[in-house]
Amino acid sequence: MIRKQYFRELSRVYSMIYEAKFKYMISLVITGVATPCIQILFAFAFKNAINAVQYNNSALFGKACYLVIASIIIQCMVEPLANCYNGILVNRIICRIKEVVFNHTEKLPISYFERTHSGDIMARLTSDIEQFEPIYRGTARNLMQTVIFGISALISMLILSYELVICSLVFSSVIFFSNAAFTNILRALSQKNQEQLSKVTQAFVNVYNGAATAKIFAKQENLMSQFQRENSLLAGVAKKTANTNVKKSSLNYAISFGSRVGVLLIGLILVSRNQLDIGSVIGIVTLQTGVTNMFVSIGGFLATMQGNLAGVSRIFEILDTKAEQERYAIQAASDPEKDDMIVYENVCFSYDHENYVLNHINLSMKKNNVYALVGTNGSGKSTLMKLLLGFYEPEGRVSLLGRAFGDYSLQEIRDRITYVEQHPVLFSTSILENIRYGKLDASETEVMEAAKLAGIHEYIVSLPDGYGTFVGDNGAFLSGGQRQRIVIARALIKNAPVIILDEATSSLDTENELDIIKSLQQLADNRIVIIIGHRLSSIQNSDWIYVLDRGQIKEQGTHGQLMEKQGLYCKLYRLQLTESDTISLGYGQPLGELI
Ligand SMILES: Nc1ncnc2c1ncn2[C@@H]1O[C@H](COP(=O)(O)OP(=O)(O)OP(=O)(O)O)[C@@H](O)[C@H]1O
Ligand SMILES: [Mg+2]
Repeated sequence: MIRKQYFRELSRVYSMIYEAKFKYMISLVITGVATPCIQILFAFAFKNAINAVQYNNSALFGKACYLVIASIIIQCMVEPLANCYNGILVNRIICRIKEVVFNHTEKLPISYFERTHSGDIMARLTSDIEQFEPIYRGTARNLMQTVIFGISALISMLILSYELVICSLVFSSVIFFSNAAFTNILRALSQKNQEQLSKVTQAFVNVYNGAATAKIFAKQENLMSQFQRENSLLAGVAKKTANTNVKKSSLNYAISFGSRVGVLLIGLILVSRNQLDIGSVIGIVTLQTGVTNMFVSIGGFLATMQGNLAGVSRIFEILDTKAEQERYAIQAASDPEKDDMIVYENVCFSYDHENYVLNHINLSMKKNNVYALVGTNGSGKSTLMKLLLGFYEPEGRVSLLGRAFGDYSLQEIRDRITYVEQHPVLFSTSILENIRYGKLDASETEVMEAAKLAGIHEYIVSLPDGYGTFVGDNGAFLSGGQRQRIVIARALIKNAPVIILDEATSSLDTENELDIIKSLQQLADNRIVIIIGHRLSSIQNSDWIYVLDRGQIKEQGTHGQLMEKQGLYCKLYRLQLTESDTISLGYGQPLGELI
C-alpha cells in the first residue's frame, strides 16, 4: 500500500540536513516533548481536580494546581524557545540545500540546458525547492509531537485503566489504515500539480521571451490561450487535491469522534460497575485524542507529505543528473613542436549518437594567423568550435597548443579560449561589469582599452552614465551592433591565446565589421584568431579559409586560391557580390521595378 520509494525519498530528505542532523534531532525532540507534556499534565490536573471536588479532598486540589503551574511554565518558556531554535536550524538547512542545488545546476552539461525548458528549470529552482521547508519545519515536528504524545498518552492511560487502552487501540488502528489508503492518490495528484506548475511557468516564460514576436504577428491571443489552458489544468488538479483532502479529513473526524464516544461509553460502564472512578474516565477521554492523533499522523504522515515529496523528487532529479565531466578522454599525440597549434584529426560528432553533423574533420591552425570558417547554415561551423570548448565529446583526436585535449581539464581548456557566441548574452548590470566579466580583476583602464579595440569606447563615453550605464535585460537598451561590440570587448579583455568569433560581427555594417576584423588581425600576434562569418568580403583577408558543407571540409586555402579553384567558395562569393550589386542598384528605386 505504501511504496518503498517514499521511505527512500524520506531518508534522502533527512540526509540533506548534512552535519546539522544531531542538533536538528535534539530540537525536534524538545519541541516534540513540550506539547504532549502540557496535554498530559492537564489530563492529570483534570483527574485530580474532579476527584478533589467529588471526594472533598484538598490535597488532590493542591496537586492539580501544581500540575497546571508546571504546564504553564512549559507552554510559556520551554516550547517557544525550542520552536525558535528549530526555526533557525531549518532556515540554515534550507539555505544550504539551495546552495548545493545551485552549485550542481551550474555544473550541469550544456546539453541539459538545451533540452530543458528554461521555465521548467526556473520552476524547480523556485517552487520545487521550497517543498523541503514544510517537511523539516511542520510535518516532521508534528509527527514527532503526536508520536511522543500518543505513546505518553498510552502509558498514562495504562496507569489509569488497561481495558480502555485496548479499546482505544482498536479504534485507532482503523484510522491508521484509512489514512494510509489515501497516500498513493495524493502522491499522484501532487506529482501532477508540480508538473503542471512547471508548465504554467513555461507558458509565462514564453510570453516574456516572445512578447515582441507575439505583437508583430498579432498572436498575443495564442499565447494567452496557451497560458489559460495550462492554468486551468493546474486549477483542476488543485480542485481534485482539495476534494481528496476533504474526504480524508471527514473520514478522520468521523472515526476519531466515534472512537472517543466508544471509549467514553465503555468507561461509563466500568464506572457503573465500580471498576473505575469518573475522574479517570474524563482523564482517559482527554488522553484518547493523543492516541487517535498519533495514528492519524502516522497513517496520514505520508499522505500529507506527498505534495512536498513530489516537489522534492524533482530537485533530486536535478541532483541525480550527472555534472559535466572534469575532462574528456580525447586523445592525440602530445607534440611539443605543435605548442602553437590547434589540430583536429579525423573528428566526427553527432548530438544524438545517430546523425553525424561533423564527418572526418582534419584541420590545423597555427598561432600568428587568422582563420575563417565559412559555409551554409547548419554546415557545422559552430559545432566545430563548441567541440574545442569541451561542450561535447567528439570521436577522433584533437590537440590544443601541443597537448592532447584529454590531458587538459575542461577549466584549463576554457581558460585558453575566448569564444564570442553567435547570440550575444549580456547581464542585467552596467556596461563596465559586462565587459569585466571576461576578467574579474580588470582595471577600468583595461576595460577601456578593450572597448576601444571593439570600437565601442566613444559611444560609451557619450552616454550620460558612461561605463556605469545599465544595459537592461540582456542588453535590451542597446542596439544589436552595440551589444556585439560589448561582448567582443568582454572577449578581448580575457586575453586568451585562442580567440573565436562566431558570427560575432553579423549585426555590424560592412565598414564597421571590417574595422573590427582589422583590429583582430593585429591581435593575432602570438594568438590564433578564428572567425566564423557569412559575409565573405569581410573575411577574405584571412590567412586561411576552411569551407564547410554538410559537416565536411569541402575546400581550404587563401581567398585567391579558393577563387581560382572555382568551387563552392567561389560560387558563394560571386552570389554575395551579385546580391550586393542588386541591392546597391535597387536602392532608391520603386519596389515594383525590382520584383
Ligand atoms: N544543441 C543541438 N542539438 C542537436 N542538434 C544541433 C544542436 N546544435 C546544432 N545542431 C544541429 O547540428 C547541425 C550543425 O549546426 P551548427 O550550429 O554547427 O551549424 P552552423 O554551421 O553554425 O550554422 P549557422 O551558419 O546557421 O550558424 C545543424 O543541423 C543543427 O540542426
Ligand atoms: Mg553557427
